[in-house]
Amino acid sequence: MILGIRSRMTFGIILIILLTVFVMEALIINIVRVNYYNNLEANLWNQLKVSSEMYSRYFSDASLAENVMNNVDTFWKQTSAQVQILDTDGRVLMDSIGYMPEEDVRMPDVEKALETGRGSWTGKVPYDSNGVMAVSAVLTADGETVGVLRFISSLRGVDEDVRSVSRIFIIIGAVVAVISILLSFLLSSTIVDPLKRVTDAAARMASGDINVRSTKTYNDEIGKLSDTLNYLADEIDKRDRMKNEFISSISHELRTPLTSIKGWAVTLKEVKDEDRELHETGLDIIENECDRLTAMVAELLDFSRLVSGRLTIKKESIQLEEFVDIVGRQLAPRAARDGLHFSVEVEGELPEIVTDGNRLKQVIINVLDNAFRFTPAGGSVLFKTVVSGGEVIFTVSDTGCGIPADELPYIKEKFFKGRNSKLGSGIGLSICDEIIGMMGGSLAIYSTENKGTKVVIRIPCVLEGGAA
Ligand SMILES: Nc1ncnc2c1ncn2[C@@H]1O[C@H](COP(=O)(O)OP(=O)(O)OP(=O)(O)O)[C@@H](O)[C@H]1O
Ligand SMILES: [Mg+2]
Repeated sequence: MILGIRSRMTFGIILIILLTVFVMEALIINIVRVNYYNNLEANLWNQLKVSSEMYSRYFSDASLAENVMNNVDTFWKQTSAQVQILDTDGRVLMDSIGYMPEEDVRMPDVEKALETGRGSWTGKVPYDSNGVMAVSAVLTADGETVGVLRFISSLRGVDEDVRSVSRIFIIIGAVVAVISILLSFLLSSTIVDPLKRVTDAAARMASGDINVRSTKTYNDEIGKLSDTLNYLADEIDKRDRMKNEFISSISHELRTPLTSIKGWAVTLKEVKDEDRELHETGLDIIENECDRLTAMVAELLDFSRLVSGRLTIKKESIQLEEFVDIVGRQLAPRAARDGLHFSVEVEGELPEIVTDGNRLKQVIINVLDNAFRFTPAGGSVLFKTVVSGGEVIFTVSDTGCGIPADELPYIKEKFFKGRNSKLGSGIGLSICDEIIGMMGGSLAIYSTENKGTKVVIRIPCVLEGGAA
């Protein structure tokens, strides 16, 4: 059988409450009983003291036996207890209720009194079902022990008192226990009910209803769990939306070159063979569009490798000077087409570095592509390279539209496309960031809206690890 949290908690709490109440009750009742008994004993002692002192003072000229015959009342005038007078052998000479034991039993208190002067005892006697308390003290005449005076009190009265006080305590204990048990049910509800709500929400999310949100009952650990669950659902929701947007923008981007290729194919079929110029133009455009498609498919492939963790980095020696030059020359026509001032700057001598040249080129081109795309005609884009402290630092700055501050933290996320972006699939920077990360470097983006953007890429001159 599996016990739920509710049963485990209530069961545990009830056990603790009952145990505590029981122990406390036992302790309190015992203290009360001891207290009552002590009082009774102190009373008996007081009375006994008065009587035995009186004996020593006034009756010590006559023998004990004579005194018993003549002045017997004196001994019980002081007390409501049963009074016995015993001789020095412990034999009962007189008993105020007339109880004379058949055989000669020595009571422990009498024994003690004969030894040390006084003694007390609590126990059972045949003539009182409640048990009795007895106190004894020696009677002396001129310093000589002549007998024992014994006061005996039934325990009925005190026992009844103790019982009625105990009853009150037991009732109080029972009330406390019942209230605590009810409270423990309530307490376990405050834990179990919110937990159940969170679990229900999680179950509904798991079954596909991602719009469900868990309601928070208290601001405690379970409340935190609820918040986390909602955050998780929000994230899943956001990713889902971005993925859908991604698919639609990718389809859109693939269709544009395809339309162009198809258009030119149809045109070329219709034109006469003699029109060489038109043929050339058409085939050029078809070739270019095919290159664009290939690049796009390559990016998608990279992305799928990135998602499944299969993106790899090679290690080779490259001439940084030459590398920067090639990249600059490759992109200059595009910048000119877009009406941008594109400058390539190099500070000092550029050395030979060890890294993955193709991947690095892919990253730089991607970042430059963004700069071109988000900078309107007439603006400028600067590509700067510096080597310092064993690091290559590439800086791409533009005077474009910039990135709003609220979008900046998400810019490197997969599928993230800014509000300013119309074309594009939103995966470029996520791939760049991953590649630079694998090279042991960093990619940082600084941007001010309507002013421009600066991307700073740092990689070590010599790639550690990576495949040769
Ligand atoms: N230089 C820049 N200026 C302004 N916004 C930028 C710049 N670079 C990136 N962004 C913003 O960051 C977003 C993400 O960039 P990213 O390169 O990852 O995707 P994309 O360019 O939209 O698509 P893709 O590169 O996959 O074709 C862009 O949509 C854009 O909003
Ligand atoms: Mg991009």
